[in-house]
Amino acid sequence: MNISEKLKVFWHGGDYNPDQWLDRPDILEDDIKFAKAAGCNALSVGIFAWSALEPREGEFHFEWLDSIIDNLYKNGIYTVLATPTGAMPPWMPKKYPEVTRTNYDGFQKLYGVRHNNCFSSPVYREKTRIINTKLAERYAKHPGVVMWHLSNEYNGGDCHCKYCSDGFRNWLKQKYGTVKNLNAAYGNAFWSHLYSEWEEISPPNPLGETLSLPLELDWRRYKSQLVTDFIDWETAPLKAANPDIPTTANLMRYTGLDYHEISKHIDVVSWDNYPEWYRGDMHPAISTAFWHTMFKGCKKDKPFMMMESSPSATNWQATAKLRRPGQHKLSSLQAVAHGSDTVQYFQFRKSRGQSEKFHGAVIGHDNSCETRVFKDVAEVGQTLKDIKEICGSLPRHKVAILHDFDNIWAIENTKGFKNTLPDKGYENCLLKHFGALWELNVGTDVISQNDSFDGYEVIIAPMMYMLKTDAINKIEEFVKNGGVFIATYITGLVDENDKCYIHDSYFPLRDVLGIVSEEIDSLCDDDKNSVTFGGITYECRNYCDLVNITTAKPLAVYNNDFYAGKPALCKNKFGAGTGYYIASDIDSDMLTDFYAGILSDYRIMETADGVNVQIRCGESCDYVFIMNFNAGKRFVTVPYEKYEILHGSFDSENRINPYGTVILKVNK
Ligand code: GLA
Ligand code: ZN
Repeated sequence: MNISEKLKVFWHGGDYNPDQWLDRPDILEDDIKFAKAAGCNALSVGIFAWSALEPREGEFHFEWLDSIIDNLYKNGIYTVLATPTGAMPPWMPKKYPEVTRTNYDGFQKLYGVRHNNCFSSPVYREKTRIINTKLAERYAKHPGVVMWHLSNEYNGGDCHCKYCSDGFRNWLKQKYGTVKNLNAAYGNAFWSHLYSEWEEISPPNPLGETLSLPLELDWRRYKSQLVTDFIDWETAPLKAANPDIPTTANLMRYTGLDYHEISKHIDVVSWDNYPEWYRGDMHPAISTAFWHTMFKGCKKDKPFMMMESSPSATNWQATAKLRRPGQHKLSSLQAVAHGSDTVQYFQFRKSRGQSEKFHGAVIGHDNSCETRVFKDVAEVGQTLKDIKEICGSLPRHKVAILHDFDNIWAIENTKGFKNTLPDKGYENCLLKHFGALWELNVGTDVISQNDSFDGYEVIIAPMMYMLKTDAINKIEEFVKNGGVFIATYITGLVDENDKCYIHDSYFPLRDVLGIVSEEIDSLCDDDKNSVTFGGITYECRNYCDLVNITTAKPLAVYNNDFYAGKPALCKNKFGAGTGYYIASDIDSDMLTDFYAGILSDYRIMETADGVNVQIRCGESCDYVFIMNFNAGKRFVTVPYEKYEILHGSFDSENRINPYGTVILKVNK
C-alpha cells in the first residue's frame, strides 16, 4: 500500500516557502539546484501563503505559485500543496473580527501569530471555501501536485465565541437527547448541578465551571469533532476538483485533539517529529518510537508520513544542540523503520527574518550545499533511493499497547492520586511499558480501545483509567479466546463519562484479572516500597494498589509497610487466556524482566542496550532495521541463517557504528 498512486517511492523534501523569496529569482533558482542535489522529490508549498495568494479581500495572485509548481515539476520535484488556513491574512480579522478566537473572558483576540482561527466562524469558513476552491480548480489536476497538506498543525485551543458555545450545546443535545440523560450520565446531583435546560450549560471556563470533569471531557471531544468538521469543510472543494489527490494533515504530539478521530477524515496520516536528541539518553529514541507507532496505528494499513523534522537543531527546544554525525540519518531511518514512507523537513530554506530564522533547515543563510547539514540530508536522499523496495511495506505486530486521548484527558483532570504529577504519571507509565518492549525488541502496535483487537495475541493497558463498556466486553472476549491481557494500577476505574464503576455490581475485568482493587496508596515523591519477583528485589514508587485476590495467583508481593505480603503482581487464567495485573509503579528493570519472561516468543532478536530492531514486512521478505542509538559501537548477533544486507554494514568484529543503521533483507 502506498501513500499516493502518483509517486510510489519514498518522499524526501519538506516545507518550502518560496513566497518569502519572490523578490530573489536567484535564490529560487538555487532552490531547484539544491533540492535536486539533496535528492528531494516532494516539497510542501504554500502552507503560510494566504496573504501572498490573497493580499486583499477578493484579489488573488496565483502567477507566482503557477511558476513555482511548474518549475518544480519540470525538475522532477512534486508539490504537496497546502491549504493556507493555518495563518490568516491581516485584512481578514480587521474587517471580520469574528475570525479570531474569543478568550474565556469574552475578549476577541487581535490579529497575530498563527493557528488562531475560530473553527466555527461562518466568515472563516466562507473565506476558506473560496481560497480552497480556487486552489483546487487551478492545481488539483496539475501533474506535479501529489497531495493536499490541509492547513497546519490543527490544535484543540479554546474559543468561547457564541458559535462555538452554541455548537457545543447542540453537540450535547445530539449526544444525550435530553438534559435528564445528560444529568444522569454526568452525575449532576453533585453540587446541585442538575440542569433543566440546555441553555444553562456553558463550556468550561476559568470564570465559571472548572470542576465538572465530564463536562470538560465532552468539551474536549466536541473540539476534536469541530476540527474534523472543519477538515471536511476544507476538503470538500479539493475532492470536488479531483477526488484522486489524497489529503493529509500534519499532526503532532499531544495537542488536545483526538487523533484517532481526526485520522478518519484524512487519507494519509502525517506528523511533525522533533525528538530531543540533545538529552543524550534513550528517552528521545523511545518516545519518538512511541509516537511513530501511535500515528502508524491511526491508519493501520497504510504507511504514514513524517511531514516535518529538523535536519539540524530546532529554535524552540531547551537547547539548540547540534546533531552529532550520524544522528540525522538515524533519526530519519527510525521513522522509516516504523512505517513512514517520507522523510520531510521543516524547513527546506531558512527564512531570512522573523522568529524561525535560526531553526534548522536544509539550506542555511550561507546558501551553500557544502555544509555538514546539507551533506547529511543528501546522504538520506541517496539512502531512500537505495532502499526504495521497502516503500509501501508495513510493520505488522501481534502485541499492542492501548492508548486513548480521552483517557489522558480524564486522568489529567481527575482529582486524586498523585496531584503533584500533571498527568498523574500517565505518560511516564506508558513510555515505561513501551520502553521495556522497545529494549526487548518486541514489535508493538499502539491502538485505541475502540479499535478491533483482531490479529493481536497480547494487549497491554497501562493506566487505562477510563475503560469504556464496549472495551471491557472486548477484553473479556479477547482473553477468553486465548489472548494475554496485562493491566496496571489505575486501570478500569471509570466509564466514558468519568463515573466510577460500582464494584459490587460490576467490577470491570474482575473475571479477567482475578482480583478486585480495594485501595490505592499514592506515595510521596521520596517514598518507596519494594517488590520481590523471581528472587530479585526491585523498587516501586508512586502507586501501590492494594488488591484482593479472587482467582488470581500472586507472582510478587510488597515487602514493606502495612501491606507487606499483599500481591503486587498477579496472574490469572481466564478461558483460554491469561490476565496479568501489575499493581504498582515498579522499577523499569522489573518490567523488562517480567516482559522478557512472558514475551520471549515475540522478541525479534537480543541486542545490546540502546540498539533497537524494527521490521517492515514486504510480500516475500522482511526488512529488518537494526538501529544503534548509542554514541559508541555495539556488537550485533544476527539470528538469521540467511540474509542480505540492504543498507549499512557491520565492521569486521560484527559491530554496528555509533548512530548507525543496518537494514537486513530476510526472505520469508
Ligand atoms: C511546527 C510547524 C512549523 C514550524 C516548526 C518549527 O511543526 O508546523 O511551521 O513552526 O514547528 O519546529
Ligand atoms: Zn469560536
